[in-house]
Amino acid sequence: MTHIAKRSIPVSLNGNRSYSIVVGSDLFSNLATFLWTNSLGKTLVVFTHPNLKYLYGENLASKLKKSGFNVSFFEIPEGEGSKNLTQVSALLDKLLDLKLERQDTLLALGGGVIGDLTGFVASIYLRGINFVQVPTTLLAQVDASIGGKTGVNHPKGKNLIGAFYQPKTVYCDFSVLKTLPQSELRSGLAEVVKYGVIRNAPLYNFIQENLIAISELKIDGHDAIWQHLISESCADKAVVVSEDERESDLRGILNFGHTIGHGIEAECGYGGRLHGECVAVGMIAATYIAIKMNLCAQSLLESLKETLDALGFDLYFKGVDSDAVFEAMRLDKKVKSGKLRFVLPTRMGAVVIRDNVPDDLVKEAIAVVIGE
Ligand SMILES: NC(=O)c1ccc[n+]([C@@H]2O[C@H](COP(=O)([O-])OP(=O)(O)OC[C@H]3O[C@@H](n4cnc5c(N)ncnc54)[C@H](O)[C@@H]3O)[C@@H](O)[C@H]2O)c1
Ligand SMILES: [Zn+2]
Repeated sequence: MTHIAKRSIPVSLNGNRSYSIVVGSDLFSNLATFLWTNSLGKTLVVFTHPNLKYLYGENLASKLKKSGFNVSFFEIPEGEGSKNLTQVSALLDKLLDLKLERQDTLLALGGGVIGDLTGFVASIYLRGINFVQVPTTLLAQVDASIGGKTGVNHPKGKNLIGAFYQPKTVYCDFSVLKTLPQSELRSGLAEVVKYGVIRNAPLYNFIQENLIAISELKIDGHDAIWQHLISESCADKAVVVSEDERESDLRGILNFGHTIGHGIEAECGYGGRLHGECVAVGMIAATYIAIKMNLCAQSLLESLKETLDALGFDLYFKGVDSDAVFEAMRLDKKVKSGKLRFVLPTRMGAVVIRDNVPDDLVKEAIAVVIGE
């Protein structure tokens, strides 16, 4: 692997909570220095899955131990099923047994499940302790680890219990993505394409120019490309959350492709289709709506379809009930006073938010991407 200079991206927040996202490869050695220089305690508890402990955790821990840290692991079973209050309670018990103190640090080593769970536990243990994110999926690197949304699921819905709580830093080491299943890597790419459409036309052009290399879904040999895709995405999310931490306005643009995407994801049963796969068709459906509302040119939809197709995404889901998708969308927690909100592109790199899309047009757009 050729060595690419790491990039540091600021997330600017009020109240002394600003932090940096570091993007690069082989970053683990730098983490100890960061923890020391920022006085983040001597004791570190790593929350991770057993396979990730084996793949990366042991190596990370040995580096930290050499620098004088006490490191313990809490292993959490894989999967969305671990994001619940029972798990939170068990983790709090263990932290109390360990007598972890306020200046010590939790480290999330994993995808969005680990990140959301660790962040939430960090937000409530002793009314809030330090935590750092070491995201290991593409989705977590470009999205879930940034912005401070933490939480768990409830039987009544996903992510209903949680807190806004910011990490002290985010270390996105793209070399760990080489062990990620290709389907997960592709799924994360949907969010990267999303940043291109909503606010970063040069990133979208970069994806098009490197489409063949990216669609191989291999990290080795393409370091510069992945470094660019991830760091640009992180920079986009960082700017959006810096301006609108609690999603009163601007942060809403990050939901491009997610209004219909979430409906499809819920209807397919979480786990049936990956999140990014649903967002990909959701972006197509939203762009279709934008065209019908005379907000953007047909060519944008054609380009988006070509790009997603070349990346290996399905552009049409068969066997999904469109009425059920529409109902699932209405139940989504993001629906405000009964109105569906859509993020609609106006040209590449620019979007508007609308809550006046006629129901018939929404149903037509759903039918464009799914059908019995
Ligand atoms: N907080 C936010 O802003 C935010 C944003 C988006 C999504 N999320 C949340 O993120 C979660 C989804 O995250 P995800 O897609 O990362 O899934 P995930 O955390 O479940 O990880 C997917 C799978 O990949 C495995 N894995 C992770 N890294 C690996 C690696 N480097 N090599 C091999 N295997 C690896 C994991 O063990 C797991 O089985 C959802 O719970 C969602 O609600 C949160
Ligand atoms: Zn998403």
